[in-house]
Amino acid sequence: MSIAVAHPNIALVKYWGKRDDALMLPATGSLSLTLDIFPTTTRVDVDPTAEGDVITFDGEPATGPVAQRITAFLELVRALSGSTASARVDTRNSVPTGAGLASSASGFAALAVAAADAYGLDLDQRALSRLARRGSGSACRSIIGGTAIWHAGTDDATSFAEPIDGPELGMVIAVVDDRAKAVSSREAMRRTRDTSPYAEAWEQAAGADLVAMQEAFARRDIPAIGELTESNALRMHAAIMAARPPIRYLAPQSIALFDAADRMRAHGLQAYATADAGPNVAFLCAADDVDIVRDALTTDIPAGRLIAAHAGAGARLVEAPA
Ligand code: DP6
Repeated sequence: MSIAVAHPNIALVKYWGKRDDALMLPATGSLSLTLDIFPTTTRVDVDPTAEGDVITFDGEPATGPVAQRITAFLELVRALSGSTASARVDTRNSVPTGAGLASSASGFAALAVAAADAYGLDLDQRALSRLARRGSGSACRSIIGGTAIWHAGTDDATSFAEPIDGPELGMVIAVVDDRAKAVSSREAMRRTRDTSPYAEAWEQAAGADLVAMQEAFARRDIPAIGELTESNALRMHAAIMAARPPIRYLAPQSIALFDAADRMRAHGLQAYATADAGPNVAFLCAADDVDIVRDALTTDIPAGRLIAAHAGAGARLVEAPA
């Protein structure tokens, strides 16, 4: 029995686009904050008597694409370990699945750690990050606690996440809508690459943003980190919106929340908005400002839809389910 816990991460410089779909190599590097909220707990038991993997997802038997993606991932682990035995997998998310709250990141990070242990692989953090990447790109960053940089790399060996030093950061998540999104990030990424006239410009800008972000991290310059974060997110959404057929992840209330970030800054509070592949908005700020930022947002969105978060731990094995 191997049980692992992992947390979602939110990118400050986004990963949006693959250079290799099979190996899950990103077009550009990215940088993120792993949070201390919404853990995924995954248990893996190798069961040589089972005919095929048996997967339970949030208490229900998993079928269709969800099960296929997990089995495909287990095939990678089996290939690495030389085993052909099936597994029983039980995974529980405490984050609304598919709502742009990064559940695939915590999900595949927890699965990578639990499955590697269950199949007897002894992998270091870099190898676990590379493995998690094969399940979902952003999952390679959830292997790492706190702030992580994912080096795009040029092949399987060189594309992994590792910790990056910087200031103590926190986030406030504003939940605009917790229903599953209409277009998965995987499909939307592909559509952006194939049809958006801004896809190439996005890749160039994201590369430059990552360089500037690393410099801002080295200076521990929160205003610069925040400005890059907000602008990088809007650049990603601009490229997505220009795909055909178009994809709009941001809802009217999401845009209003970007306005709220402007308003907070006009009042001297350093808070910056970002959004992933969904309408929810995350506000980045200094770790010490999280409560003030949350309170300031209650004029925009009910307090029950605001979740305060700090830097969380990387994916790890635990003795018993959390
Ligand atoms: C907008 O990692 O979910 O959250 O690699 O296809 O599984 P796949 O995509 P995924 O995409 C994350 C996109 C993002 C930006 C980010 O986390 O960097």
